[in-house]
Amino acid sequence: MATVNKLFNISVFQFLAFVSFSFCNSKPNIVFVLTDDQDVTMGGQLPMVKTKKLIGDNGVIFTNMFTTSPLCCPSRSSIMTGRYVHNHGAFNNSLSGGCSSKTWQQKQEIDAFPTKLKSKGYSTFFAGKYLNQYGHQGAGGVEHVPPGWDVWNGLVGNSVYYNYSLSVNGVREKHGDTYPQDYLTDVIHKRARNFLDKRDKSAPFFMMLSTPACHGPFTPAPQYNSSFADKQAPREGSYNKKGDDKHWLIRQAIVPMPDDTVQNSDDIFRRRWRTLQSVDDMVEDIVQTLKQKNLLDNTYIVFSSDNGYHLGQFGLPYDKRQLYEFDIRVPLMVRGPGIKPNQTSNKIVANIDLAPTFLDLVDRTVLPNVDGLSFRPYLYPDQNSSVPLRDFILIEHSGEHVNDVQGCPGYKNQGLNNCDRHCVCEDSWNNTFACLIQLQGASTFKTCELMDNENFVEIYDLKSDPYELTNLYKTMDPKQFSNLQRQLHYLATCKGPQCNSVPSNLLK
Ligand SMILES: *[C@@H]1O[C@H](CO)[C@@H](O)[C@H](O)[C@H]1NC(C)=O
Ligand SMILES: *[C@@H]1O[C@H](CO)[C@@H](O)[C@H](O)[C@H]1NC(C)=O
Ligand SMILES: *[C@@H]1O[C@H](CO)[C@@H](O)[C@H](O)[C@H]1NC(C)=O
Ligand SMILES: *[C@@H]1O[C@H](CO)[C@@H](O)[C@H](O)[C@H]1NC(C)=O
Repeated sequence: MATVNKLFNISVFQFLAFVSFSFCNSKPNIVFVLTDDQDVTMGGQLPMVKTKKLIGDNGVIFTNMFTTSPLCCPSRSSIMTGRYVHNHGAFNNSLSGGCSSKTWQQKQEIDAFPTKLKSKGYSTFFAGKYLNQYGHQGAGGVEHVPPGWDVWNGLVGNSVYYNYSLSVNGVREKHGDTYPQDYLTDVIHKRARNFLDKRDKSAPFFMMLSTPACHGPFTPAPQYNSSFADKQAPREGSYNKKGDDKHWLIRQAIVPMPDDTVQNSDDIFRRRWRTLQSVDDMVEDIVQTLKQKNLLDNTYIVFSSDNGYHLGQFGLPYDKRQLYEFDIRVPLMVRGPGIKPNQTSNKIVANIDLAPTFLDLVDRTVLPNVDGLSFRPYLYPDQNSSVPLRDFILIEHSGEHVNDVQGCPGYKNQGLNNCDRHCVCEDSWNNTFACLIQLQGASTFKTCELMDNENFVEIYDLKSDPYELTNLYKTMDPKQFSNLQRQLHYLATCKGPQCNSVPSNLLK
């Protein structure tokens, strides 16, 4: 009996040693879920109850996550490279503005985080929206598969839910409008499941699930088509308020908004929430699948969005592209090995931090030539000091324009873009700005300079005025302003590690 016991003990010991050995030595997996245009300030995360429970409540919910550019392609290019727009060069959503352009592919894409993961032996999977110009002829067509990805299901062009093409590993696959087999969120979901079933089990994996939800045209799955019927766009804060002390683009909004604008923005609000239900289902299923396959304990799940959104704030009907909190704040939730549940972090983090964080989580690699920083220390606050990595962030936007604004004949060649049926426009060539958001004692100052012909400046104290109702520029001590301005100018041209601390001679 003693011998049996001894044998038994040894084998259990050996078994446990083997298990912990293989656990400690296998690199973690990462699942990155990226939504499109999902806001924070209008409650954009609220309909995703399961996602909050499964990711946020099992890890860290970040309350100060920013995009460094409130537009899809510039933001996504920052996510992929870890660089500010002024360093990656994708200034807008057009090929000519660097979105998925040949130059971007040659200088940035070859250096983006998927190639680093691949070189570390990761098995990599992508499905969904990539960059707005992806797949177009000028961007190399569907044959162009970005380097670093083993399994590639890239949406051609901008977010839609039906009637689109995917590049499946370089081959065009056309989809119609039959539910569920063509509904893009569900296609991403099914292919992700399939990857988990069929993957090479000897390699750790990285998956990026990049949904069209909740971007326009806001098409829900049929079973969610009438959900949230009693909801409307939130009325608090700057909703339907005149932005009199703001730059000209905001001053042109019609306030109070016409009735049909109010109805339309409420309808869009509901449809956005409905499209997110399919993302919530996908997250639940992926988490359950990871659990069933005994992978959940060694997998990080990161959830975020490319930029925020507004519906009626300062009378702007529906879009992003603005310097205000509603467009630049995005969700960020992370769960993973050893991360304590139910944590909230108010540290300032941004989209440029995602790429360096992924590499840090994988094996503590520090990515060279990026502007962002790994926020890994914020996931494990017990192991680190409470000193923030940095307490500021830069936001940049280059305004877009079209020559012919449809339905607004007087607006030809005026440098405007995205104008609604009342000719309230959401962008213009000179809605071009740089902002510094910075914690300063009891205040969090946001300092923005616009490159319009008024050189307009907007300054808000986000702590005392979270809805940005009062522009402090005219009343601020000029010395304090020039201090903030020096820092803003420094960051607007910073590169690499320079971007993470402001030289002290600029602070006096
Ligand atoms: C998809 O395209 C077909 C053919 O052009 C069209 O009839 C249908 O309305 C489209 N469906 C959607 C959801 O746009
Ligand atoms: C969804 O609801 C809209 C009205 O909000 C309606 O026009 C559309 O036909 C409905 N679609 C389906 C698939 O039921
Ligand atoms: C998180 O906190 C809630 C209560 O706020 C609790 O019900 C839940 O069990 C906690 N989750 C974990 C994973 O500890
Ligand atoms: C994007 O940027 C390029 C280069 O500055 C410019 O030529 C183009 O007009 C911009 N696109 C839009 C839609 O504004």
